[in-house]
Amino acid sequence: MKFFIDTANLDEIKEAHDLGVLDGVTTNPSLMAKEGITGHDNIIAHYKKICEIVDGDISAEVIATDYEGIIREGEFLAELHPNIVVKVPMIRDGVKAIRYFSEKGIKTNCTLVFSAGQAILAAKAGATYVSPFIGRLDDVSTEGMQLIDQIVHIYGNYGYQTQVLAASVRHVIHLVQCAEVGADVVTCPLNVITGLLKHPLTDIGLEKFLSDHAKGNK
Ligand code: E4P
Repeated sequence: MKFFIDTANLDEIKEAHDLGVLDGVTTNPSLMAKEGITGHDNIIAHYKKICEIVDGDISAEVIATDYEGIIREGEFLAELHPNIVVKVPMIRDGVKAIRYFSEKGIKTNCTLVFSAGQAILAAKAGATYVSPFIGRLDDVSTEGMQLIDQIVHIYGNYGYQTQVLAASVRHVIHLVQCAEVGADVVTCPLNVITGLLKHPLTDIGLEKFLSDHAKGNK
């Protein structure tokens, strides 16, 4: 399972990259705004900085919602760097644009996916990645993980090449369950990645090993 970090924060991206386990980055307009990255030129410069840090797929989301606008914006973003993946919302014109990008060899991430039907459509259109949002489904009392399981199963039935990119991941259990059901990629905040390191028995065990070593080497 690939690990993507879900942030536009350069320090967090560097930290995850330094850990040596990072395969890519996802951003969205809210994450860019949270870092104070506004205005076309600043946004573009920021994507370039991310591409310099991580040698892996970097999702950059279009703002346009009409077909021509999505194509124009997506082609511009894809030109920035070979690792840019054009992130397109699951809407009618978005699906049409994903088909266009797929035929042009431009990688896409179909975002805001909340049902298996939408995921089938994204795969049929030739999306490189599909992003079902686990946490936002959990927020409305729907089991987000069941959707990941369902999509992995359906894609397996037909050998769809679209990769399941589990998004809106809120905690370590989400990540582990994604691995159990066979998601191709999980994108999550830094605290979820570093959260994988933690177990109290590791801390207690290490303390004991070090104190025993110190006693024997006085
Ligand atoms: C990533 O591609 C998504 O935009 C992101 O995971 C959404 O996460 P959120 O539901 O925590 O905002």
